[in-house]
Amino acid sequence: MSFINLKNVVKVYPDGTQAIFNSSLSIEKGELVVFVGPSGCGKSTLLRMIAGLEDVTDGEIDLDGNRINEIDPSERDIAMVFQNYALYPHMSVYNNIAYGLRSRGIKKLEIEAQVTNVSELLQIGDLLSKKPGQLSGGQRQRVAMGRAIARDPKVFLFDEPLSNLDAKLRVQVRLEIKKLQRKMGTTSIFVTHDQTEAMTLGDRLVVMNKGVMEQVGTPMEIYYHPKTKFVAEFIGTPSMNFITGSIKDKTFKASSFAIPAKYEDKDDVILGVRPEDISITKATTGVKCKVELIEKLGSSTVIYCVDMKENQLCVSTQSRASVEVGDTIHISTNNKALHFFDRETSKALTK
Ligand SMILES: Nc1ncnc2c1ncn2[C@@H]1O[C@H](COP(=O)(O)OP(=O)(O)OP(=O)(O)O)[C@@H](O)[C@H]1O
Ligand SMILES: [Mg+2]
Repeated sequence: MSFINLKNVVKVYPDGTQAIFNSSLSIEKGELVVFVGPSGCGKSTLLRMIAGLEDVTDGEIDLDGNRINEIDPSERDIAMVFQNYALYPHMSVYNNIAYGLRSRGIKKLEIEAQVTNVSELLQIGDLLSKKPGQLSGGQRQRVAMGRAIARDPKVFLFDEPLSNLDAKLRVQVRLEIKKLQRKMGTTSIFVTHDQTEAMTLGDRLVVMNKGVMEQVGTPMEIYYHPKTKFVAEFIGTPSMNFITGSIKDKTFKASSFAIPAKYEDKDDVILGVRPEDISITKATTGVKCKVELIEKLGSSTVIYCVDMKENQLCVSTQSRASVEVGDTIHISTNNKALHFFDRETSKALTK
């Protein structure tokens, strides 16, 4: 049996806002699952229902084989780190981390060992005697995380815990969380709207859109086999390119594209192609485009161009392309890496 089970969970807030539509999900013991999606899609709502901070309107949540809908948050043995963390301001960092352990009657020596262990992991060992008011935002966030980790709960819930950190620290702490989670093997759910964070952290991702779980899968499944246009567009930077056309006689045709597509004949099809699956060709047989903007990122170059039918296209190349704004280039797609969606339903076409 799975460790956490959501069965047909629904959330309607008292003002009538339906934040979560019929959602089911099974999480295995020791897994790190990431809820990812744009602002307002219901990530925090779902997490808070698991923590017990929001009532479940309909459906059931099970933890370790038991229904927890009616169980008080303090009885669930779940630790949560919030977007806006709260530390006890009058207590030192040490006491903030030790608090949860003391209240459970754990012995002093054991607490000391645990606080030392956690503070080393989070690189806050030299801050233990300080008060939260004397720390930077990033340091405070790590203390909040330390407090959750030290308790060694059944489940960790993280709600965008890295939002207040600068870019470099964010990557560092992200790595620490991943290592820590592996080491401790604690079942965890991490919420973020940042797809890179989701891809790098999660064993599995739950991509959410407007209160619906659009797709659940490993990062690679989601990246290479998106089931909807929304997932295809949301995951990956720069975003996937989309071109509207139709399929006839096993060929996708759009204004300036004709590409093999082994699907049934269909009007209103959207072709999706990732920027890294488009390359600049020397031959003039490719689709002719005009370069409008270039972003040189060092390890790659992103070229924004427009074809002769005004389709905007983004190309990402690892090579040092000697291309300038205003140049005419020819591009071709990697036909093994194309995605096709039904324009009406936005669902991926199946063969
Ligand atoms: N207490 C509330 N009462 C009514 N509606 C709410 C309440 N809390 C959240 N909502 C609504 O529920 C929806 C989901 O909100 P939620 O906070 O779960 O989104 P989120 O995915 O966590 O977004 P963000 O990335 O901005 O944190 C939103 O439309 C939001 O306005
Ligand atoms: Mg949120």
